[in-house]
Amino acid sequence: GLALCIRAMLFVERNFTPRHVYLRGARVLRKDIAQKYNIAIDGPAGSGKSTIAKLLANDLGILYLDTGAMYRACALAALRAGVDITDEAAVILLMRSVCVNVTYEGGVQHTLLGTEDVTGLIREPEVSKAASAISKHESVRMKMAEMQREIAGKMSCVLDGRDIGTFVLPDADFKFFLTASPEVRARRRYDEFAAKGRAVDFEALKRDIIARDEQDSTRAIAPLKKADDAVMIDTSDMTVEEVLAALKNKMQEKI
Ligand code: DC
Repeated sequence: GLALCIRAMLFVERNFTPRHVYLRGARVLRKDIAQKYNIAIDGPAGSGKSTIAKLLANDLGILYLDTGAMYRACALAALRAGVDITDEAAVILLMRSVCVNVTYEGGVQHTLLGTEDVTGLIREPEVSKAASAISKHESVRMKMAEMQREIAGKMSCVLDGRDIGTFVLPDADFKFFLTASPEVRARRRYDEFAAKGRAVDFEALKRDIIARDEQDSTRAIAPLKKADDAVMIDTSDMTVEEVLAALKNKMQEKI
């Protein structure tokens, strides 16, 4: 009766974590769920990384780790403490006491600074700028990358950022680099703010995005860069559905 069944799940007790058990050759049919794997999605601001990473993770039933949020939380801590972000020694000192954490509620990432949920606050434009500036410091990058590796080492996840495929997880199973023209990326950010009822200056947003790209891709440590083995996708003229389908096709080809 189970000849065509490729998977059966049995819950035996409330706190039991179900695990996939494959019979005969069934494992090769779904390599993506049969073993732990990580997907790296890198790219500049507004390239569609976070939207796609979220959807992909949801689709695959795995965790989505927004690594940018972690740098943003560090930046918020620096802004609050009045630390000069260009002062390396001051940033090192700050990072000794900063406690960034991520938790998940209903599959949605919440970013914590100590015990405070700063998920909303870290999206402010001044935090975006400060995040780009603070992320060039080694003391910040090493601490964040270590946390990211620890999370990715424990479970399958989609991580989005700037250096996931090149530095954090150079052995990630799947690597993508999303990009789009600065115009399109600024328009997406503008629409996001507009949807929240926030009026922002489009040209200023575009300038900020270009300045952030420059800062992120020219820093000495783990700059924004496509990994040699990452699949590059220009999302400028693509819908979200098209980008998602493109990623899934590429993954299927590799499986
Ligand atoms: O993805 P985001 O816009 O939320 O990221 C905010 C800043 O954090 C970005 O300008 C650079 C930095 N960042 C980084 O250096 N490395 C990452 N993996 C993610 C973000």
